[in-house]
Amino acid sequence: MSDIDGTPIEKAAIDQAAIDAARKTAQGLGHSPGFGNEHTSEAIPGALPPGRNSPQRAPLGLYAEQLSGTAFTEPRAHNRRSWLYRIRPSAAHPPFTRINNGRLDSAPFTESVPDPNRLRWDPLPEPAAPGTDWLAGLWTLGGNGDATQRTGMAVHLYHANASMTDRVFSDSDGELLIVPEQGGLLLRTELGLLAARPGEIALIPRGVRFRVELLDETARGYVCENYGQPFRLPDLGVIGANGLAAPRDFLAPVAAYEEMDRPVEVVNKFCGNLWAATYDHSPLDVVAWHGNYVPYVYDLHRFNVLGSISYDHPDPSIFTVLTSPSDTPGLASVDFVVFAPRWLVGENTFRPPYFHRNVMSEYMGLIEGAYDAKAAGKGGFVPGGGSLHNMMSAHGPDRETFDRASAAELKPQKIDDGLAFMFETRWPVTATTQAASAEHLQTSYDDVWQGLQRHFRL
Ligand code: FE2
Repeated sequence: MSDIDGTPIEKAAIDQAAIDAARKTAQGLGHSPGFGNEHTSEAIPGALPPGRNSPQRAPLGLYAEQLSGTAFTEPRAHNRRSWLYRIRPSAAHPPFTRINNGRLDSAPFTESVPDPNRLRWDPLPEPAAPGTDWLAGLWTLGGNGDATQRTGMAVHLYHANASMTDRVFSDSDGELLIVPEQGGLLLRTELGLLAARPGEIALIPRGVRFRVELLDETARGYVCENYGQPFRLPDLGVIGANGLAAPRDFLAPVAAYEEMDRPVEVVNKFCGNLWAATYDHSPLDVVAWHGNYVPYVYDLHRFNVLGSISYDHPDPSIFTVLTSPSDTPGLASVDFVVFAPRWLVGENTFRPPYFHRNVMSEYMGLIEGAYDAKAAGKGGFVPGGGSLHNMMSAHGPDRETFDRASAAELKPQKIDDGLAFMFETRWPVTATTQAASAEHLQTSYDDVWQGLQRHFRL
């Protein structure tokens, strides 16, 4: 083999024993660490072409295909693309046709108006029917922006009691940040396998095909569909070179492919609607890949929590794990923020989150335990539930929390009984009709702020 000017190209040595061994382990889980960096992975040694992306004939008879997550010309620091070497090209498919959107909705959310009221939901009930897989179990709570303009975000919940079989999903409208709350998920993606359990998050980039299998009987959780710029790690400014989420704790998969020559339905969310085409093979047939456009998982318990060691409560931006920036510096389209176990040591300080009104809109969820500003238990802020505090709505600690924290002895205190998170977004979140009228919408949420006593005195 030689390249176009006759220079010999190093031919990757292909050892049959290594190939056989790799075939046996091709479905195993492995990880490639790092965030935004270049990864390389091959399920069979020699499957990646050396020295170029698109050789005249790719190794092992594979097809080369580039998957671009950013425009070709975006700045190098934020440019995302991967090269996939697959058994058959993604292009080999019949036409896509519309299928029912189910309970999945998309921006722009025009069926209702944004609500200034504080809203809170109990968890989604169990799926109504057996055989509800992750895709069928998606239920849209609301969102903002416009999927066709690649702006804004949507909040979805999911509940499932079955694995996806013989169908895969891809979302052209945005990347999917999955936050499991109950039940582990096995994500079989084009780039390999990832497992995400409660306490971990998984991200599937825009356009990447994947199938969700359940690691437990049932699964429940949250999804942020980010229509905007891909999530990235926040800048650290004066914090320095370390802190918050460490790049090395983000784990991409290693290549793992399946040879499945039977009909597989590929469901594609495109500009708010679901479309489907039946391939005659599994599109999860990528034998090798390299690049920086990858799915990943991250264990939220790895988050390095920073906070005040003197007084006051820092703004919750200090807890940002990932941010999707807008075109305005410092103004996120959506931030993913975690409230992880941490010490509170502030002197002469009201330690729970303060009362506030925020130009940003906040959707909060709870993965486990309790949140330090909200009462737990039935009718409270519970795992699997969620609250929506839209732009400028007044909120903060509930009455019980205010009374307790105002009188607490201020010795060092470890908050370690809960894991909460927030999708904080620049635009108000419009709740879908199904969310605004859901049986699990709490109708007396305002009551938590009733009875806050007048303490004013001269
Ligand atoms: Fe808030």
